Amino acid sequence: MCGIIAITTSSKTNVSKMITDSLKKLEYRGYDSVGVATINNGKIEILKDIGMIDKVNKRLSLENLRGTIGIGHTRWATHGAINQENAHPHSDCKGNIIVVHNGIIENYLDLKKTLKEKGHFFSSETDSEVIAHLMEEELKQDNPNSSKINAFKRVINKIEGTYAITLIHSKDPETIFLARKDSPLVIGVREDTKFAASDIPAFLEYTKQVIVLKNGEIATLTPQAVYIEKNGFRVQPKPVIISWTAESAQKSGYPHFMLKEIHEQPIALKNTLNIDPRVIEKASNKILEAERIIFLACGTSYHAGLSGYHQFQRILKKRPLYKVIASEYETYSHLIDEDTLIIAVSQSGETLDVMKGLGAARKTRASIISVANVIDSSIPRLSQIALYTKAGPEIGVAATKTHTAQVALLARLALQIEHDVGLLNTTEFNENLGTLVTEAPQITRTIINQNEFKAKELAAKISNQNHAYFLARGYNLPIALEGALKLKEISYIHAEAFPAGESKHGPIAIVEPDFPVVIISPNDWTAKKMLSSTEEMRARGAYIISVTEEGHNIIERSDYPFILPTSLSLLRPITHILPLQMLAYYAAVKRGFDPDKPKNLAKTVTVE
Ligand code: F6R
Repeated sequence: MCGIIAITTSSKTNVSKMITDSLKKLEYRGYDSVGVATINNGKIEILKDIGMIDKVNKRLSLENLRGTIGIGHTRWATHGAINQENAHPHSDCKGNIIVVHNGIIENYLDLKKTLKEKGHFFSSETDSEVIAHLMEEELKQDNPNSSKINAFKRVINKIEGTYAITLIHSKDPETIFLARKDSPLVIGVREDTKFAASDIPAFLEYTKQVIVLKNGEIATLTPQAVYIEKNGFRVQPKPVIISWTAESAQKSGYPHFMLKEIHEQPIALKNTLNIDPRVIEKASNKILEAERIIFLACGTSYHAGLSGYHQFQRILKKRPLYKVIASEYETYSHLIDEDTLIIAVSQSGETLDVMKGLGAARKTRASIISVANVIDSSIPRLSQIALYTKAGPEIGVAATKTHTAQVALLARLALQIEHDVGLLNTTEFNENLGTLVTEAPQITRTIINQNEFKAKELAAKISNQNHAYFLARGYNLPIALEGALKLKEISYIHAEAFPAGESKHGPIAIVEPDFPVVIISPNDWTAKKMLSSTEEMRARGAYIISVTEEGHNIIERSDYPFILPTSLSLLRPITHILPLQMLAYYAAVKRGFDPDKPKNLAKTVTVE
């Protein structure tokens, strides 16, 4: 949450234009307010306000600030209202030190009290502002010419909580100071320019050489050099070259990132399923060694984990398996010990709830396998085995291509386990694998193309509704949960998903004529029962939308059926969510909302 960018360059360019462009790429992380600060001729220039970048830029001309070093921030409010004062960057009393921060400083009230007693004047209600004042206070102890890094290190030692910090000082006009703990911060390296940002797409247009700053590391960037240290020892930076292209982080003619990302699913699946078989075999061995297995994730990634849970349950039968929403991990802590394996699923690899759960698991020496999209992010680094989805950068806040890529990777893993426990012989395994790898991208493309217009048409029909239900049974429930989450988070239509049989225990009470009910019903063992649930809803006048397959009786009992080809059961959590992603997208657009930036949400959730 919150996007940070900092740039220092020896070229003669003003960095504010690059900072503003980078902030647009980070806007998915928060969009309550935005601000940019630069150092120009030894003086800080700072502009900030509430609102989205384009509007603030139009009002204040953020991109016209002068100077070859600067920092920028796009905010998702935690401490303090959404107003101009609380927008980042923040400064010390004299306006020499400027800071942007992502995370939460837990001891800020104590620090603020002490600083106020020492005469510091605060302009905002944020926790972040204490960092600038602490730096000011620490520098008072040093010779004005001595290196500012020592004061910065003392500041970092004083703060508790989570942070990605970038700080600049008007008297050190080439250096950016960085620190990170539990909030992401990556460094971009170009010969004459260095970047620091919350996420790689921010500077992908300028460089593909990336250094991921690790927890507890402190760094300085100058146009020519990157210096990193941890616990007082120098760390040799290891840049990696990112294969993502700058275009992959642009809309490429689509009206929104979400629509582009929906259409990118075939290629995301193809790349993801092209994973090195040795990594999958290693993961399968680890799973088979474990006494119990816990899927740990949040939101959409939790729904992918649920699909994995059902696949694994079918194969591992009596092996204890659990599915845990990461923010609830304490409730399950009694299950976690050295014989436990956690499978953590996270697109960003930075979700704090998941990281907290993994932190606790590591203390008990539990094993960890992760499924993540962002290379070298925190969650893969906390794991013994990191499995990567290759979906490319996902900018739309609502996860689409990363979700189906997660499901595909877990399905690939399930197939491997099925082989390794002897439920599939090598010929059957190779046949199924071939089908998964070739069919997933193809069928996905076909379904998207055949159903996009229908999804748009249906969105227009239901866009004036305030509620919708999503029903399924058994292993199809994750599809209903994900469909409901997509609809509610971007169109703001209240949507609820539950096992179909539960409706008569309460939810059916509010069903009335035209109430949209989405029924997920493939040609499988759930079909008959889903038909009964459909009839119960129809009897109350519900508007039945079904996601079903050719030949199913439900088609004629539906007001609006999405009829998909019957596919491998492994593929259903991928294929059957596609019409619902498109329905959510078009419902949001029809209702006049920006699907890429739903209110109150951010892409990477780095607060508990
Ligand atoms: C919804 C959505 C969120 C995320 C959740 C976990 O569309 O994207 O529910 O799935 O915040 O994020 P990651 O996957 O980054 O751990």
